[in-house]
Amino acid sequence: MIDVNAEIGKLDWSREPKGLYEPIGYTLAAGGKRVRPQLALLATKLFGGNEEDVLPAALALEVFHNFTLLHDDVMDKAQVRRGRPTVHVKWNENTAILSGDQMMIEAYKLLSRVPEKKLAKTLRLFNQMATEICEGQQYDVDFESREDVTIPEYMEMIRLKTSVLLATALKIGAYIGYANDEQQQKMYNFGIHVGLAFQIQDDMLDCYGDQATFGKAIGGDIAENKKTYLWLTAAAKGAKEDLALRDESKEARFKRIIGIYNRLRVKAAAEKEIAKQTAAAIACLEDLPQNDYTEQLRALARKLADRTK
Ligand code: IPE
Ligand code: IPE
Ligand code: MG
Ligand code: MG
Ligand code: MG
Repeated sequence: MIDVNAEIGKLDWSREPKGLYEPIGYTLAAGGKRVRPQLALLATKLFGGNEEDVLPAALALEVFHNFTLLHDDVMDKAQVRRGRPTVHVKWNENTAILSGDQMMIEAYKLLSRVPEKKLAKTLRLFNQMATEICEGQQYDVDFESREDVTIPEYMEMIRLKTSVLLATALKIGAYIGYANDEQQQKMYNFGIHVGLAFQIQDDMLDCYGDQATFGKAIGGDIAENKKTYLWLTAAAKGAKEDLALRDESKEARFKRIIGIYNRLRVKAAAEKEIAKQTAAAIACLEDLPQNDYTEQLRALARKLADRTK
């Protein structure tokens, strides 16, 4: 299979003005799991398609993902990503905005190299996904100042901000691999469930992870009053008053909220939901061709469900 990391490494960012392009190289060189391009490649291969055909879209998806991270880190006031200072910290917010914008444009330039016969629909799928991510990010921000968010609202928010990117990677991959409409939809649904589990796990790691492994500062969601699966489960168990913002330091708040989470065993509830979504994902693969790539997708879903980074 094509080595996604190597392909990303081939992209050249040594252009002028440096202030625009250096942060792009910095971000893409910092690693990351490369889950989205991997999903696109696996999906194409599952249906017997040619991985060279999907490669431009796979790279576009990864560059687009990295673009969303630059803006997301500004919105979330995040200081660390992939074990390094975030772009708005290392440079400044204007840099994160503009280099992020340029990354989105670069993603579309890569996407435009998809085989011409496949381009129109791929572009349509990509555009729909891009809009939905913005919608999800807006809900995420809106929820910071709402204390009445429900779990179904949260699930819809994370479907938009996180799942659709994974799902679209799979659907585009399947489409380029000549899967039929029904098969494309099954791959998409697999990605939706994997993404829901992925984001709940991300919420957990934001509280219970190890910064050195996770690569992100622990406690960011609690500091920003994010409505995570943990927060909402604690609220549903009667702790809403105690979860509210108070006049206290960031450290004191983190300790206090984790204390509530531990007392109410919300971590176990989140783990249960992750297992449920992972099983739902794997069930979506049942009626598809069964080969080494189907097995790799199942293995990836299971691996992501208990990732530590
Ligand atoms: C981070 O995505 C954003 C979320 C959807 C939680 P990843 O966890 O895939 O980040 P990288 O690309 O591996 O760094
Ligand atoms: C991820 O949400 C969604 C997007 C980046 C679009 P988070 O805000 O939880 O992601 P991290 O934790 O910063 O990677
Ligand atoms: Mg964030
Ligand atoms: Mg965010
Ligand atoms: Mg997070």
